[in-house]
Amino acid sequence: AYNGLAPTPPMGWNDWSYYQCNISEALILKQAKALVTTGLAKKGYNTVTIDDCWMAGTRAVDGSLQANPKLFPDGMAYVANKIHAMGLKFGIYEDAGTNTCGGYPGSWGHYTQDADTFASWGVDYVKLDGCNVPNVAGQTAAQTYVKAYDQFSKALVDTGREIVFSDSAPAYFQGGPDWQTVIAASSKVANLWREGADTALGQESGAAKWSAIAYNYSYNVGLGQYAGPGHFNDPDFLLAGDSGLSDTEMQSQVSLWAEMAAPLISSTDLTQLSAAALSILGNARVVAVDQDALGAQGHIIQQGDGYDVLTKPLANGDVSVVLFNKSNASQTISTTASAAGAAQASDYRLTDLVTGQSTASTDTIAANVPAHGTVMYRVHAGASSSLAPALSVRFRNGAL
Ligand code: DGJ
Repeated sequence: AYNGLAPTPPMGWNDWSYYQCNISEALILKQAKALVTTGLAKKGYNTVTIDDCWMAGTRAVDGSLQANPKLFPDGMAYVANKIHAMGLKFGIYEDAGTNTCGGYPGSWGHYTQDADTFASWGVDYVKLDGCNVPNVAGQTAAQTYVKAYDQFSKALVDTGREIVFSDSAPAYFQGGPDWQTVIAASSKVANLWREGADTALGQESGAAKWSAIAYNYSYNVGLGQYAGPGHFNDPDFLLAGDSGLSDTEMQSQVSLWAEMAAPLISSTDLTQLSAAALSILGNARVVAVDQDALGAQGHIIQQGDGYDVLTKPLANGDVSVVLFNKSNASQTISTTASAAGAAQASDYRLTDLVTGQSTASTDTIAANVPAHGTVMYRVHAGASSSLAPALSVRFRNGAL
């Protein structure tokens, strides 16, 4: 990437979807601690980001940003220190326009000053939203946004601190004529960028959450050409842990996001995670697909009545295949290792990444998939050669 950061998709937690403006120092530090105690931090979820509404209503007399003293009485450098002491990284939200979406001071006219402030606080990750970006005479809106995000990105680099940059510009052009132009520009100046709608908020219904997940998947899945190490499409937060979604639906979101090399950013109450939600978020086999060193985004190779089949190439030559049943009834979905781009071989080892179970196949990859469900396989060319080490490990353990 332009700044050498985020070789694999960023991971962590953000308060927005679950808490919106109901945030405080105590809440943020409690959630940060929960990232550690749940074990999710060790799995890679290492960045805690404070979204909108953390600021005071006005800038300080010298023009610098200041935290709301009621919500963050010790200031942001203190919060950063506490988060760093837990072995985590610290992210913060601002907006490229005159005001944030929540009405707090935006960065417009202050990019260098704000980037310097963030660096001085120990910020490791900035999410720059795109509400209230003014019209500039002689420029299209897309040109104004592209220029603004380019300038903010340079200001972050110029601080000399390593700061991952999350760019929201494409979300403001989604589906319009300039959308992909803005994504292409974002992919050169940011490590991740939002393309479109917010996933549903924590207090919305399960049905609203599922339709938001399905929608964000549907527009994000076709954007793989922009993704690669250091620069990733961001279809918004993981909702696993929220009320309303079934375990099957939570699993589908995480599996699909991993297949799309999407940032894995949880936004829920981590102190209340069900055992199922925790194991879905923390599944190391699925996270490994997301975090694969190739950084390739999976794409659709086959579509049928209410289903998609996706494949993603992996650094060791394996491919990851997802059978996604979008429909409201279970169905058998079937593809082949060759269609999924697996290396030519007489047989394949298919590892179900949720259960960890391996089976052998000469070519067919098929499963009965529940409504709204996914089955995700890691496909390795050569079933027998690769099963042998597993057997010998078992023998050695048995002998001990
Ligand atoms: C819109 C963004 O898409 C959300 O993720 C969140 O940052 C809100 N703005 C905050 O106002």
